[in-house]
Amino acid sequence: MMPVTISVGSGKGGTGKTLVASNIAAILSQRGKEVYLIDLDVGGADAHILYGVFKPSATLTDFLTGSQKHLHEVSTRLDTFYGLNLIVGTGETLKTANMSYATKKRLLKHIKMLKGDVVILDVGAGTSLNTLDFFISTDIQLCVSTLDPTSILDFYRFLKLSTIRKVLSSFLSTDEVSRALSQKDFQRIDEIFAFAEKIRPDARKKAENTLNGFRPALILNQVRGESTLDRLKLKHVVSKFLGITLPELGVIPWDEMVFEAIRSYMPIIEYSPGSKAAVALSKIADSLLEMIDTQIA
Ligand SMILES: Nc1ncnc2c1ncn2[C@@H]1O[C@H](COP(=O)(O)OP(=O)(O)OP(=O)(O)O)[C@@H](O)[C@H]1O
Ligand SMILES: [Mg+2]
Repeated sequence: MMPVTISVGSGKGGTGKTLVASNIAAILSQRGKEVYLIDLDVGGADAHILYGVFKPSATLTDFLTGSQKHLHEVSTRLDTFYGLNLIVGTGETLKTANMSYATKKRLLKHIKMLKGDVVILDVGAGTSLNTLDFFISTDIQLCVSTLDPTSILDFYRFLKLSTIRKVLSSFLSTDEVSRALSQKDFQRIDEIFAFAEKIRPDARKKAENTLNGFRPALILNQVRGESTLDRLKLKHVVSKFLGITLPELGVIPWDEMVFEAIRSYMPIIEYSPGSKAAVALSKIADSLLEMIDTQIA
C-alpha cells in the first residue's frame, strides 16, 4: 500500500515549516506510524540538525546522483525518536537549476514507493517550480504562515501559484490551455476556470476536477496575543482568491522554548512536551492522524 504523503510549505522563509514537519514526524512515529521525513529544502536543509544528526551515512544526494537506487537506502533510522526515518537533504544538489525534469519525476515516483504509513516533505520556502511541484504532489498540503504582513503576502502568493500549478498539472505542457494559463496572472480562482473555458470548453471541467480536494490546510505559527486583526486579514486574502475559507489546522503560539529545543538538538515535543508550542503541535498531529486515517480508509 502506498504511504499517505504530506507536504509542508510556505511563501516566506523562517515561518516554521521545519519546526512543524520535524515535530509532526516525531509525534506520528510516537503514535505508532512508520514515518519518513524528507528534507527537500533547497537553500537550508537542516531538519537533521534538529535531531542531532550531524554526520548522516547517506543523504538525498546519493539517491539523486544515482549512486543509490532506492530512497530507503539513503534514509537514517532514528531509534531514539521512535524509529522515525529521516532522509537528509543537501542544499547543493537540490538547487532548482540542478534538478532536471527526469530527476524530479524519479524522486516523486520513489517517494510514493516508500514502505511507510506516512511520508512528510519539508519543501522549503519560496515559489520555485520545483518547490511548487513537490508541494502539490502530495495527498495533504500544509501551509505555515505567521501573521506578520510580509508573511501573509507571501503566503497568498504561494497559495495562488501552487493552485495554478495544480491546475496546470492536469494538462500536458504542450496543451494550448496550459500555455495560455501559464502566461497569465489571476486574482481569483474563478478567473482561472473562466479563462480555461474560453480556450477550450472542456478545459473548465478538467481544471475544476483537479482542484477538487486541493485544500491546503493552514497552520499559523509564532502567534502572539495581539493578532486578531491580522488573522482576519489573512482569512480575507485567502477567501478572496479561493472563494472559500481554508481549513485552519492549528495555531502555534510564539514560545521561547522553541529556541531552547533547537539549541539542544531535539524536537520540542521531546525537549519540552508541556510547552505551549509542543501542546499545539500535538493537537495538530491529532487532527492530521484523523485526516491520514480517512485517506487510508
Ligand atoms: N512558535 C515559535 N516560537 C518561537 N520561535 C519560533 C517558533 N517557530 C519558529 N521559531 C523560530 O523561527 C526559526 C525558523 O523556524 P523554522 O526553521 O522551523 O522555519 P522554516 O520555515 O523551516 O525556515 P526556512 O524557510 O529557513 O526553512 C527557528 O529558528 C525558531 O527559532
Ligand atoms: Mg526549514
